[in-house]
Amino acid sequence: MQDTILFSLPETELNIYSKKNPVEVPVIENKIVTTGRSPNFIRHITFDVTGTGLEGKVRAGQSIGILPPGVDIKGKPHQLRLYSSASPVFGEDGEGKHYSTTVKRLIDENWETGELFLGVCSNYLSSVRTGNKVNITGPSGKRFILPEHPEAFNYLFFATGTGIAPFRGMTKELMARKTTNSVNIIFGCPYRTDLLYADYFQKLDREMSNFNYLVSVSREQIRRDGSRPYVQHQLIDNREILQPILHQPNTLIYVCGLKGMETGIFKTLHRLGMHEYMNFRKGSAEDVTADWTDDHWKKAVKPSERMFVETY
Ligand code: FAD
Ligand code: A2P
Repeated sequence: MQDTILFSLPETELNIYSKKNPVEVPVIENKIVTTGRSPNFIRHITFDVTGTGLEGKVRAGQSIGILPPGVDIKGKPHQLRLYSSASPVFGEDGEGKHYSTTVKRLIDENWETGELFLGVCSNYLSSVRTGNKVNITGPSGKRFILPEHPEAFNYLFFATGTGIAPFRGMTKELMARKTTNSVNIIFGCPYRTDLLYADYFQKLDREMSNFNYLVSVSREQIRRDGSRPYVQHQLIDNREILQPILHQPNTLIYVCGLKGMETGIFKTLHRLGMHEYMNFRKGSAEDVTADWTDDHWKKAVKPSERMFVETY
């Protein structure tokens, strides 16, 4: 059994701007971050919060709220939607004045009618032009952030899709602090065209011996057993890199992206005997049997204090 490494999370000022009291800020950048012929539309959007209460106050991993204009089908103002900050606490500009997020347009067929379904807020935000103003709230979220003295820890950052946003910001912060501990981005997406911020992560992977960028491109790569590679499989397929890090007492796991993606990570950690990262609500690891369904896992297991999950 490992010794528990104690850490604390920094104090955060939450909801400086609320739904009833939002702040209007200009968009200063809106660019596509998928490449080639990606079937997905994912954008990097930057807000200028100069002179507002948000200056220097949004931590990587926290979210900002966006209030889309207009009303829903009941005639009520649209609900607020949350988007993770993709920037370090010191912002894109180094002074906490420019914060970015990573937004995926929700475009689909309506599950019931078969008509085109366009998500309200993601499409509003993706279509905002630079110079236009947007009503925002926040920051929100007080646990999914880096701990105090973040350079004292190793990190396994598991992300799918836009779940990469907080880890871009966190990595920038860790690099600015010149961490010598291990930082690992484990990213899953359907196609190579969806490797968000790949230039940045690939450069770090080349230049920093303590940084690894591992990708699971689910619809283009194939595992030995013929299955699609998902982020949790990296714990097995790249065990020589990741398992020694998992065993260190100062390692923290962060998970962001697809709702439910943590279940696959729990199952793999259990298979590896790494129970430090999970707590059993009832019983213990010995109770797990091969016939446990995903639903069973969801009910039985939750993250321990060494694992942070933000899935949506
Ligand atoms: P909506 O108009 O709200 O539509 C979505 C709703 O419609 C869902 O409730 C769903 O049940 C339903 N729906 C979905 N598809 C269909 C369909 N085909 N037919 C019928 N109904 C359907 N998103 C990002 O892109 N980037 C982020 O960084 C990000 N961070 C987040 C952080 C947090 C903490 C949370 C909670 C969410 C985050 N999200 C992020 C998700 C984001 O808040 C929105 O939920 C997302 O953009 C969709 O909002 P929308 O207004 O476009 O869609
Ligand atoms: P796939 O959809 O090919 O099965 P995006 O948000 O851009 O769609 O990317 C989500 C990524 O996560 C895709 O590669 C998707 O694979 C993958 N994925 C789907 N289900 C899971 C899961 N349960 N655990 C981990 N990754 C998943």
